[in-house]
Amino acid sequence: MNNENIVWHQHVVNQQTRSELKKQKPCLLWFTGLSGSGKSTIAGRVETLLAKLSCHTYLLDGDNIRHRLCADLGFSDSDRVENIRRIGEVSHLMVDAGLIVLSAFISPFTANRKMVRDMLKHGEFIEVFIDTPLDECEKRDPKGLYKKARAGEIKDFTGIDSPYEAPVNPELRIVNHNIDIDTAAKQVVDYLRQHGYIP
Ligand code: PPS
Repeated sequence: MNNENIVWHQHVVNQQTRSELKKQKPCLLWFTGLSGSGKSTIAGRVETLLAKLSCHTYLLDGDNIRHRLCADLGFSDSDRVENIRRIGEVSHLMVDAGLIVLSAFISPFTANRKMVRDMLKHGEFIEVFIDTPLDECEKRDPKGLYKKARAGEIKDFTGIDSPYEAPVNPELRIVNHNIDIDTAAKQVVDYLRQHGYIP
């Protein structure tokens, strides 16, 4: 599409103005990990802790987003890339609005996660790798999806017949095995405090 007649309008109230109102540094906490690794549960607990600290947040979650914004997408490699691109754009707008955004998606491809990182300013993207071994996720199987994937009833299932590229250098790696949700969530909140995102 030709964008040469579309000019960016710089408004007076900007991200810094909104951020100062909220007394928090906007950022995107990007939770990545296998299905059943605990991404959504930990992200939800982090959001609860942040609400108690009067932080303004928004949680974007895989299953929920696929009911509406990405309802037209499946689980082929190209659909997953488009899924994450859209979520990256929405997250970027919300970070610009001054929020602490929590996005919990499998987001299996390194290049795709980097694409989202590159949409944001330096320091705004915080990759949180929920590192739960596949056999543990499969044992938990909270939605019975691994069982279906093993039985061949679901195709392109992450970790079974679709790849997961684990982050090599995430800002935070949480080994979600034999630890409780509060301990995991606290690691994220501590990171935010230590790096000046929240008071
Ligand atoms: S992705 O790869 O980032 O686009 O996936 P995401 O949007 O996070 O959606 C993952 C949830 O969709 C359910 N589901 C599947 N996951 C992986 N592979 C296949 N084929 C699949 N089919 C359905 C599953 O419930 C995932 O939720 P979580 O919370 O990750 O378990």
